[in-house]
Amino acid sequence: MKHLIAPSILAADFANLQSDIEMVNSSAADWFHVDVMDGVFVPNISFGFPVLEAVKKYASKPLDVHLMIVNPDQYIARFAAAGADIITVHYEACPHLHRTIQLIHDAGCKASVALNPHTPVSLLQDILADLDMVLIMSVNPGFGGQQFIPNTYHKLRELKELSLKLNPELLIEVDGGVSMANISALREAGADVFVAGNAVFADASPVEMIATLKAASAASSSFI
Ligand code: DX5
Ligand code: ZN
Repeated sequence: MKHLIAPSILAADFANLQSDIEMVNSSAADWFHVDVMDGVFVPNISFGFPVLEAVKKYASKPLDVHLMIVNPDQYIARFAAAGADIITVHYEACPHLHRTIQLIHDAGCKASVALNPHTPVSLLQDILADLDMVLIMSVNPGFGGQQFIPNTYHKLRELKELSLKLNPELLIEVDGGVSMANISALREAGADVFVAGNAVFADASPVEMIATLKAASAASSSFI
């Protein structure tokens, strides 16, 4: 089982983005998590291509781009060209999900699907073998700093079981309200990739917090 930390730059200081990116470069973090919101799929607007390109310019780690947008197909090639390494689309935004996944792979990126808190894991059964990752939302998408939804544990366990049968290489990412309070339990439930926004950027010592989260995500909760 992997244990990767992906700080979400949604919680970074946009007026000092370069220094926050360099902080993450110098830390034990594995990826940058980049949240793109369109104000239609979610009730918030974050940023688009110019910010992604600016992040790419300084980032020394892969960009994990989470698209909270309707109609992602028409922008996949542009997100790939702007520097995305992994592209996540929402199940709820993709009526032709198989085609969308093909587009992501054709653009040279790893393909991932996100599930909102109310969307059952079982709906992915017939696409799971084609995916590199599944993102389980542990808050309703749209904002950082929200409270973790406990039903996430059940979904992670169910997805882990399904992935062992259908795609043992699949990465399982958890996004929203991840902190020291739940990271080792999330790992035990099956998560491999941990997105952390507020837990990292609101901390007085973010580099140390990333190292602490990384260590806790490697340990079983019974030892904490
Ligand atoms: C929410 C985003 C998350 C968010 C996580 O819609 O997908 O990636 O940045 O932030 P925290 O860790 O603060 O909940
Ligand atoms: Zn996200």
